[in-house]
Amino acid sequence: MRVGILGSGLMGGKLGKIFARAGHEVVFSYARSEQKLKRLAREAKGKARAGSPREAAQDADALLLAVHWSRIDDVLKQAGDLSGKVIVSCSLPMNADDTELVVAHTSSGAEELAKMIPKARVVSAFNTVPSEVLFGVFEARRKATRPSVLYCGDNSSSKRIAAELIRDVGFDPVDAGPLRIARYTEPFALLVAQLAYEGKGGPELAYRFERLAK
Ligand SMILES: NC(=O)c1ccc[n+]([C@@H]2O[C@H](COP(=O)([O-])OP(=O)(O)OC[C@H]3O[C@@H](n4cnc5c(N)ncnc54)[C@H](OP(=O)(O)O)[C@@H]3O)[C@@H](O)[C@H]2O)c1
Repeated sequence: MRVGILGSGLMGGKLGKIFARAGHEVVFSYARSEQKLKRLAREAKGKARAGSPREAAQDADALLLAVHWSRIDDVLKQAGDLSGKVIVSCSLPMNADDTELVVAHTSSGAEELAKMIPKARVVSAFNTVPSEVLFGVFEARRKATRPSVLYCGDNSSSKRIAAELIRDVGFDPVDAGPLRIARYTEPFALLVAQLAYEGKGGPELAYRFERLAK
């Protein structure tokens, strides 16, 4: 697939490299420097290049949205028309100092995002995963037991694409249902981060919700 990365930081940079190594064509976009995007493309060691958000969106089979909540409007504006696009969002609706969700309980970042781009098809995924574990999961992807990752969305074809990307990273994708489930998974993502950074056992603990689907 052609995968556009909107936000090439900790999550977008790592996931983009992994998607390229898994054989996808990746366009890294939206960082503060063009040099960084080019470096990521070089390091991806697959079919990858640097581009603008608009170029990342052009002909993309899927777009990974991985920016801070405060940058969503800007990156969407730069990406242009996203009608019909599959947007896999790992972005959590956090406040400026990343201490609280600014959308919660009765809605979620993913649902608000879907309202901002009603013609796109939003899937919420990867936001329960600390970026630190991504390469480890990718390297262990051929093992019999894979850690699970939740995803949710309202459109079945876009969910199939998200599930394929999740599998390519090395996770077992767990369909958590419609997009409104994100109002429960997003606070859960904060719990995961808390476990990863403050609990015993480190990041590994955070994504071990194996067999959750059963
Ligand atoms: N990190 C995690 O473990 C994790 C886990 C789950 C969910 N999330 C969520 O995923 C999203 C992304 O998190 P992250 O940790 O990947 O963030 P990040 O490392 O800060 O990445 C954000 C990207 O946006 C770019 N950016 C910021 N301001 C910009 C501007 N004015 N112009 C152009 N580019 C700009 C940054 O550029 P630079 O590269 O130049 O800084 C960076 O590439 C967030 O919503 C977060 O809540 C993160």
